[in-house]
Amino acid sequence: MEASPTLRVTVIQNSPQFGAPEKNRREVEDLLFSQKDPSAGLIVLPELFATGYQFVSQDEVDKLAEPEKGPTFDFLSTLSKKTGAVVVGGLPIQREKGVSNGALVVLGDRLLASYDKIHLFDRERDFFLEGQSPLPIVETPFGPLGLMICFDWLFPEALRSLALSGATVVAHPANWVLPFGPQGMILRSVENRIFTVTANRVGVEERGGLPPLRYIGESQIISPKGEVIARAHSTRPEIITATIHPAEALSKKVADKSDFFEQRRPELYNSALTAEKRQRA
Ligand code: ACM
Repeated sequence: MEASPTLRVTVIQNSPQFGAPEKNRREVEDLLFSQKDPSAGLIVLPELFATGYQFVSQDEVDKLAEPEKGPTFDFLSTLSKKTGAVVVGGLPIQREKGVSNGALVVLGDRLLASYDKIHLFDRERDFFLEGQSPLPIVETPFGPLGLMICFDWLFPEALRSLALSGATVVAHPANWVLPFGPQGMILRSVENRIFTVTANRVGVEERGGLPPLRYIGESQIISPKGEVIARAHSTRPEIITATIHPAEALSKKVADKSDFFEQRRPELYNSALTAEKRQRA
């Protein structure tokens, strides 16, 4: 049997200083190019990796927001050209009606996709626009890549919709503060038989008299069978890498007679969904 094509995945776990995008981009570069061989097929950076996360006013969000093709796009494009990788990273994106908590997927000079987070977490809801477009599936040289941001993971429908749309790998920029994210994502990988690549940050932010946020690190690459292929430290900036075979995520067969995507019974799940719609109406 012909071996399925391999994909080298790199996850960059940085420790951004709030409001210092140039310094934070330099930290990312230093981490990436400190490797003997920085070439990769996919590189994933955290949510809001260059700005920091704990915004305390709309003014701060507005000042750090960028157009889709601004300095973060240029930076990701440079990383892509130097490594050959599809590069994914999060940033505040200036949209017509406000600022989204977004992410870009970049290959060379091309913006393959941009995404505005659809499930905003906690105080993000005070400052960011809620995304209105479906979670993206991006055609890449290694096949269909799904994309979601941090808190999206706690909505099983999000990753399920990406898996049903054919994604074999999901990039997941994050700023995890809740402790159960890394374990939870193992289940998400298993229940969708898909590779998940979470890039989290480390460090603590304590701004504007708000309770401190401690980011839990533990960036990870999880296989469709729930194996932790690589996991980063909980407090240190770090790079993790792994070589995976995305085609392993194509089959949803877990036993001879059980392909669990084919066996789904959506017509029987509808009563709960219908009830939910009725309650909201
Ligand atoms: C999160 O969505 N940044 C927790």
